[in-house]
Amino acid sequence: MTQLKINSVYKGDCIEVLRKMPSNSIACCITDPPYNYEFIGHKWDDDEVKRRTDRVKNSKTMVKNIPYGSGLAGGVRNPRWYERNRTNTLDYIAWCEKWGKGLYDVCKAGSPVAIFNSNRSVAHVQIAMENCGFYTRDILVYRRNSGIPKGLNLKGKLEKLNHIDAEKWDGWHSAFRNEWEAVLLVQKPLKNNYWETLQETGVGVFKTLNIDGSFQSNILEDLNSKGKNEKFDHCTVKPLNLLKKLIDTLVPKSSENIILDPFCR
Ligand SMILES: C[S@@+](CC[C@H](N)C(=O)[O-])C[C@H]1O[C@@H](n2cnc3c(N)ncnc32)[C@H](O)[C@@H]1O
Repeated sequence: MTQLKINSVYKGDCIEVLRKMPSNSIACCITDPPYNYEFIGHKWDDDEVKRRTDRVKNSKTMVKNIPYGSGLAGGVRNPRWYERNRTNTLDYIAWCEKWGKGLYDVCKAGSPVAIFNSNRSVAHVQIAMENCGFYTRDILVYRRNSGIPKGLNLKGKLEKLNHIDAEKWDGWHSAFRNEWEAVLLVQKPLKNNYWETLQETGVGVFKTLNIDGSFQSNILEDLNSKGKNEKFDHCTVKPLNLLKKLIDTLVPKSSENIILDPFCR
């Protein structure tokens, strides 16, 4: 591939596809890779997701939709469990480095790269991206509507065991109610400084002035509203308003500036 086509979808494993893309051709990347919940990307097709979901569907300890790698799933917390979890984390970092290296190559100097991840695993992606050469700029908070605490509900568990202390543990869970997701913001190193980079590659600085005159903070909120034609037929679709906000903030409008998402469905 000598030149990228705009508004195009290239199908395949992004690790392979990124290798074929021209170096220094991308102005910005905004992406939502697997969060190391169900799998770590070795096999990411529907069959593999179904196989794993079927495997845990009758489990009493397994939190619905959050199988093993999440750390929220059930299992006796013995050294073997922690060891497996640690291995899984290291595998995830290694996998992120595989696509991170390709991504680094296709980005222009100063290109911002925004990567969605869970608050639990964003540090692993950050380490991987830094190992690939990116420089960390921020971790944005995408504040979204939230449900109830996941993980163990101690009162519920003790009630099932008819334990006398069940009531005493009302409100105690193994996890907080999660109200935010992380957006890791890294950047390919500048050429000397922001201004020189901007002149050479067209990117590097962020539009922080909002329409109402306020300055955009690193907390992105009130962006959940679903547009009329927006369909959420996949569990990890991000709201269009949120993506628009990120695009408007991270990259100057120009037909030269191509934005890449290596993990769109
Ligand atoms: C967390 S979801 C993000 C979906 C995205 N928010 C959307 O609505 O299109 C991660 C996506 O990455 C895809 N994926 C996982 N590994 C991949 C790989 N190696 N190459 C390309 N896509 C991959 C999965 O199929 C899944 O659709």
